[in-house]
Amino acid sequence: MNGLSNEEEVTRQLDFISKIRAFTEGKKLKYLVVTFGCQMNERDSEKIAGSLSRMGYDKADSEEEADIIVYNTCTVRENADKRLYGRLGVCKAYKQKNKDMLIALCGCMMQEDNVVSKIRSSYPYVDLIFGTHNIYKFPELLYSRLSGGSQIIDIWEKTDDLVEDLPSLRKYPFKTGINIMYGCDNFCTYCIVPYVRGRERSRNAIEIIREAEKAAEDGVKEIMLLGQNVNSYGKGLEDPISFAQLLKEVSKVNGIRRVRFMTSHPKDLSDELIEVIAENEKIARHVHLPLQSGSDRILKDMNRHYTKARYIELADRIRSRIPDVSITTDIIVGFPGETVPDVDDTIDVIEKVRFDGAFTFEYSKRTGTPAASMEQLEKEFVQKNFDRVLETVQRISKEQAARFAGRTMEVLIEGVDEKDPLRYTGRLSQNNVVHFPVTGAGIGDMVQVKLDECMGFYYNGTVVCP
Ligand code: SAH
Ligand code: SF4
Ligand code: F3S
Repeated sequence: MNGLSNEEEVTRQLDFISKIRAFTEGKKLKYLVVTFGCQMNERDSEKIAGSLSRMGYDKADSEEEADIIVYNTCTVRENADKRLYGRLGVCKAYKQKNKDMLIALCGCMMQEDNVVSKIRSSYPYVDLIFGTHNIYKFPELLYSRLSGGSQIIDIWEKTDDLVEDLPSLRKYPFKTGINIMYGCDNFCTYCIVPYVRGRERSRNAIEIIREAEKAAEDGVKEIMLLGQNVNSYGKGLEDPISFAQLLKEVSKVNGIRRVRFMTSHPKDLSDELIEVIAENEKIARHVHLPLQSGSDRILKDMNRHYTKARYIELADRIRSRIPDVSITTDIIVGFPGETVPDVDDTIDVIEKVRFDGAFTFEYSKRTGTPAASMEQLEKEFVQKNFDRVLETVQRISKEQAARFAGRTMEVLIEGVDEKDPLRYTGRLSQNNVVHFPVTGAGIGDMVQVKLDECMGFYYNGTVVCP
């Protein structure tokens, strides 16, 4: 930063927001923020949208009608990169029609030197590029672009500062994410996140709780605490507290009905956390616990710091202490050196743990990570293994989903069913989706719903008690 305190920096950025507001006055300008990637990016996008709205821009419904488009990018796998370049090509045509249209790029992809050089040379019509560390400077950078002429690029390699409390505009009025930490220090050998998001930094618990209280005052009912590895929350703080304690405190906030968290690294998940979830009904019965692989050899090469046996034992401990818990996971197939017996081990874990849901990814080589310099596997071989894993995951999670059929459970109403305006859609604490006929209750309310039938991955139900 520039030696300013958090408050001073926020005031400075709010000042740029006012200046831009004077510029947009009476022009009926519109913005669109397009988000790729994880919940961290979703939350960052809420902050960008919040600034744009304060600057006097209204939300556009499509890229074509926007006067400013912000692409908040992800680079965790290669196909994420490809999607951005595709979109930029299309935008060129829009920009030819609307000469004053602005294109801004931010997020994880922008932290990669080769990406920025490519954009500089092949996409000169992009107006503004910034990264993950200086997202709070968006008002200032946009103001410079509006007052100057050429493309602005501002990427920082790292930062020790956390600037919070700038405006944010929630995508959903009833639920939001709260960052509890930034960055990641785990350096799993396939993963680019530590390079693009920097070192792990935890926010003060008091600030997190204050943000939760403010959200509750605005009508938010569900909070998701966000971090790449929430179980290592608290390191380096003046008053260190464990993630379990933080979770407990957040769940005590008045008005908050449900607290979720993402993501838990299996190596650091404590018994204290399992206890806190078990004892507190407001904490979601859902643990996302990325497995990545079931093979000890591959886990070691991935630098994950647990074994197949420890993972299974941990999942068993969670399931036995928290009845009805849903355990979901991420799996990578095709990590360098993976053999058929390694894949058999992954499938064995899926069958033993019985995941309620799993994201299965084909390994994607990320430049600069240790795994990128290992010998890569043949695509067809990976594809075959991937299909086997996917088939197992789908079969088991379908069986798991059916286990609540016939029961009456608490649902948070999230909105009207897209396919039927007379029905609501909501979620169980376990994260399963439920559709049911509209009753007196409204969006953001909690209702007891009888889960009449399981439709594969969601339920049809009826409200029992509003
Ligand atoms: N911090 C989280 C994961 C964040 S990335 C955790 O460790 O649990 C989300 C998921 O993307 C990871 O769990 C992993 O399964 C997947 N992923 C990350 N890098 C990948 C790569 N190079 N190729 C394929 N999948 C990858
Ligand atoms: Fe990536 Fe591993 Fe960090 Fe998750 S814990 S973000 S997979 S390095
Ligand atoms: Fe993607 Fe960055 Fe998240 S790389 S998954 S948006 S932390």
